[in-house]
Amino acid sequence: MKVLNIGSMNLDYVYQLDHIVQPGETESSSELNVHLGGKGMNQTVALAKAGVEVYHGGMIGEDGNAFLECCKEFGINADYIKQVNTKTGHAIIQIDKNAQNCILLYGGANQQLTAEYVDETLAAFGAEDVLLLQNEINMLPYIVDKAYEKGMQIALNPSPFNEKLDAVDMSKISIFLLNEVEGGQITGLTDPEEIIAKLLEMFPHAKIVLTLGKDGAIYADSTQRHFQPIFKVQAVDTTAAGDTFTGYFLAGVCENMPIPDALKMSAKASSIAVSRPGAVPSIPFRAEVEEALK
Ligand code: RIB
Repeated sequence: MKVLNIGSMNLDYVYQLDHIVQPGETESSSELNVHLGGKGMNQTVALAKAGVEVYHGGMIGEDGNAFLECCKEFGINADYIKQVNTKTGHAIIQIDKNAQNCILLYGGANQQLTAEYVDETLAAFGAEDVLLLQNEINMLPYIVDKAYEKGMQIALNPSPFNEKLDAVDMSKISIFLLNEVEGGQITGLTDPEEIIAKLLEMFPHAKIVLTLGKDGAIYADSTQRHFQPIFKVQAVDTTAAGDTFTGYFLAGVCENMPIPDALKMSAKASSIAVSRPGAVPSIPFRAEVEEALK
């Protein structure tokens, strides 16, 4: 089984501030760091660090070579990353003194995918393989349709949630990994229990993982249901916490790990990620996660 993630790659410009800038306000930042990120690449790195054979697809500009180097460093197959004549996507991230963040995205190359590129990429994958997607690239409805036709299992992190997802045929998704805000946006509900029930009613064959921030995470499918609390840590930067959870959880599923174990491993990995700055650089290796679970 191979895991293909067609996903975003962003250069994250991370600004440290006392509080997140309000409309009309000018604030000085005490620190600026540039890290590799993007929900796509963060989740790919989490999968790779968890030990999965992962292929990353997507687009970068000529200023995006660092992503190719990152793939090399972590053993990620980068054959399907294409370099195009535009800027690599980037994110402007403000982090306040309580480690809360706020993100402004510029899609750049992440929005340049074509049907031809998708067909070429999916040609190397089949029914035994898993496709992971988020909502920071274009062509999502087409990718879902084509991958489903091939019989691939599709995992979707519908993040960030916006109207572009309306065109995606969600009945073709096997695994949803989402937070309670996104779950609320899909179902129109606010209570996590009601969100889970509604998602299972809408997608009875799907596996659902609903993360609830400091309140933990719930897994549910038509036959089982589990709850995982968070591991409390001193948060430094919550960027990529959800991506780390997603990558690690999918790694557990690919290994046929019992769901409670996969949830626990993901929560621990995510807790380590929030205790460190940056997106990609904050994601722990499997050995570190296992050591911390002892
Ligand atoms: O989920 C965190 C990511 O969201 C950041 O790395 C940033 O690039 C944005 O895509």
